[in-house]
Amino acid sequence: MNSTSQVNAPEAVRANSNPAKNDAFVRIENVVKKFGESTAVDNVSLNIAKNELFALLGSSGCGKSTLLRMLAGLETATSGRIFVDGEDLATLPPYRRPVNMMFQSYALFPHMSVESNVAFGLKQEGVAKNEIRERVADALNLVQMGRYAKRKPHQLSGGQQQRVALARSLVKRPKLLLLDEPMSALDKKIRQKTQLELVNIIEKVDVTCVMVTHDQEEAMTMANRLAVMSEGRIVQIGSPSEVYEFPNSRFSAEFIGSTNLFEGRVVEDEPDHIFVESDDLETRMYVSHGVTGPLGMPVGISVRPERVRVTRERPGTQHNWARGVVTDVAYMGSYSLYHVRLPGGKVVVSNLSSSHLMTDGAPAWNDDVYVSWSPASGVVLTQ
Ligand SMILES: Nc1ncnc2c1ncn2[C@@H]1O[C@H](COP(=O)(O)OP(=O)(O)OP(=O)(O)O)[C@@H](O)[C@H]1O
Ligand SMILES: [Mg+2]
Repeated sequence: MNSTSQVNAPEAVRANSNPAKNDAFVRIENVVKKFGESTAVDNVSLNIAKNELFALLGSSGCGKSTLLRMLAGLETATSGRIFVDGEDLATLPPYRRPVNMMFQSYALFPHMSVESNVAFGLKQEGVAKNEIRERVADALNLVQMGRYAKRKPHQLSGGQQQRVALARSLVKRPKLLLLDEPMSALDKKIRQKTQLELVNIIEKVDVTCVMVTHDQEEAMTMANRLAVMSEGRIVQIGSPSEVYEFPNSRFSAEFIGSTNLFEGRVVEDEPDHIFVESDDLETRMYVSHGVTGPLGMPVGISVRPERVRVTRERPGTQHNWARGVVTDVAYMGSYSLYHVRLPGGKVVVSNLSSSHLMTDGAPAWNDDVYVSWSPASGVVLTQ
């Protein structure tokens, strides 16, 4: 553990961010997975509550699929243990594991109808014909694909195929549903629609779901909680808003959303605020969060673009502002994205809502402006 610590997140929020060990439906304890010399999953511990939709988020190669495959029992951990519903996965034979996994490419059988695709797993298990018919119909209705039962996969849109794949997983009534990049085959528009549909479907059935994605918006939209992973390790666990509002590290702050990161040193340390000097800014930064550590310690201050104001008038305060020049304005519909270059060269990014710009008169390209933010907008990062 680092000798410094952050006190950004309210205690109550942090206390809720992980279910107690005994309430956990999935318990991952110190799991390591090595392939030869390289470590794909590096000492991960994680509790997931019943009926949670939990997302593993991280860039390519960080170990998400490997962790998911271990939850499915498709890979064995090099060390550590995994419990699902109180039972150690390693001691359960595959057919007794209450888990179903939808793979990164969920390829349906192309020559089989939708109905047969969904029935396939049940047939293999030797479930009685009547029961198969009933369960397949229920699963297809759940994903609103009942009308398409007789079609072949190539006669469906990408989003419809994805729902059939989900029905194929759910028809087996797993207690734990594992989804590896469930939207990867869909284009952006269908993706967003399907994300919400998927959440609705999962909420209707009694299932705990762990989903892998490298798309942070997808994780934010869908998950109750998420884990940010990097190089086989978990960097941060929390609800989407906790991780966004209170990133615990530079990695989280930059991975989830975009942010302005100012590097500086603590020059005054009070219980409820600190002052930070940064070479990037002419004024001191006043941050209304504490930090534990010596004066002079290096910290990063993360300020989200939507917290940054861009004005022609000089702010009335002594802190948290800088002079700059607008170098770019991109109209994004509901907001405009401003790039403001400070004298030292740093570019500060600001999202200004369009309604705000209409009333105030918008700063334009090449204008001399001030960027500023409130003391509550900065998050102190020590790692
Ligand atoms: N069977 C294997 N043998 C050797 N190395 C492997 C094996 N499976 C995965 N790895 C390695 O383990 C690391 C993690 O892989 P993993 O598939 O879990 O990443 P990921 O986070 O799912 O990435 P992506 O987003 O690209 O799917 C990678 O460096 C990968 O090359
Ligand atoms: Mg993967």
